[in-house]
Amino acid sequence: MKDNFSRKINYMRISITDLCNLRCQYCMPEVGISNKKFHKDMLSFEEIITVVREAATLGINKIRITGGEPLVKKEIIKLIESIAKIDGIDDIAMTTNGLLLKKMAQDLKNAGLKRVNISIDSLKPNRFKEITRGGNLSDVLDGIQEAIRLNMTPLKLNTVVIGGFNEDEIEDFARLTIADNIDVRFIELMPVGEASKWAEERFLSNEEVRNRIGNLTAVSHETNGPAKYYSLPGARGRVGFINPVSSHFCGSCNRIRLTSDGRLKPCLHSNDEIDIISVIRNNPEKVKETLQFAIHAKPEKHYLYTNMHEIGERNMSEIGG
Ligand code: GTP
Ligand code: 5AD
Ligand code: SF4
Repeated sequence: MKDNFSRKINYMRISITDLCNLRCQYCMPEVGISNKKFHKDMLSFEEIITVVREAATLGINKIRITGGEPLVKKEIIKLIESIAKIDGIDDIAMTTNGLLLKKMAQDLKNAGLKRVNISIDSLKPNRFKEITRGGNLSDVLDGIQEAIRLNMTPLKLNTVVIGGFNEDEIEDFARLTIADNIDVRFIELMPVGEASKWAEERFLSNEEVRNRIGNLTAVSHETNGPAKYYSLPGARGRVGFINPVSSHFCGSCNRIRLTSDGRLKPCLHSNDEIDIISVIRNNPEKVKETLQFAIHAKPEKHYLYTNMHEIGERNMSEIGG
């Protein structure tokens, strides 16, 4: 369905848990989580399926499962299987840190998961351990190889560029696109959650990143996605840029979000949320109406950089990026 600004909303991002087996420094605090929740306050997988079923009748045909880390949830395979069977859903993808992917990729694919986006911010084991607070890089690299082997394409790697941390690896990341048909996407660090406390030098624009790579040719842009794509000479894959900070893509936004505690978020950068968990539990006949309400509540654009008090009551791990 269309929102109040004639944007077609066909994409729902579902954060199925706010827990993660890593603690990336920009995403989560060193200990604890910002809003401790009880199991009963979280959507069950049956409840998530109810929402997706209703959303599909409104024209949502693309689902992305996010977290926290979605693969830490038991029963994830069954969830994917159930979503894949819903009429009208023709694309299911996942954003994952890849740690558990090697052993789970085959089952995920069999269940109907078409593709994965994998977050990876360094190709150096010690640095990876530092930014993720303990992660083992080789597990992620194994997961990437497994996804390539299973042809879960287009395979996208997400790299958040952080000044003074991984900026010297920009070329190494870009070069990964030469031999393999994968997309490496550089993401501008957003001042959200933990990262809202970070110093300005850590925020690098993607224009700067693109200049450092040089030698890139623009390729046709995917509609609906936030990334702009380029390629290196002779490369099989693409280099993408996601610029949420330097040029927001609100005009072509096609998505709404569902959090693991059952709130609909019409916009990533707004604290406005619509309680759908109570509707599911107390007035299940009103789920569709609530989804319609949330789509109509989508703001024309976000005010992240003009209205800083809008910043983050939640960490990214609770929203799913
Ligand atoms: P594709 O379907 O593969 O294009 O996925 P995607 O890029 O929409 O999803 P992914 O989870 O890989 O997100 C990549 C980055 O884009 C993350 O840093 C997200 O936080 C960011 N992102 C995704 N959607 C939005 C959005 O609506 N607004 C903003 N500002 N950033 C977004
Ligand atoms: N800025 C940019 N990207 C972020 N992500 C998490 N927090 C931020 C942030 N503050 C990214 C993760 C993952 C995706 C879902 O969101 O690295 O790739
Ligand atoms: Fe976990 Fe992803 Fe957040 Fe890192 S960015 S802590 S992998 S949810």
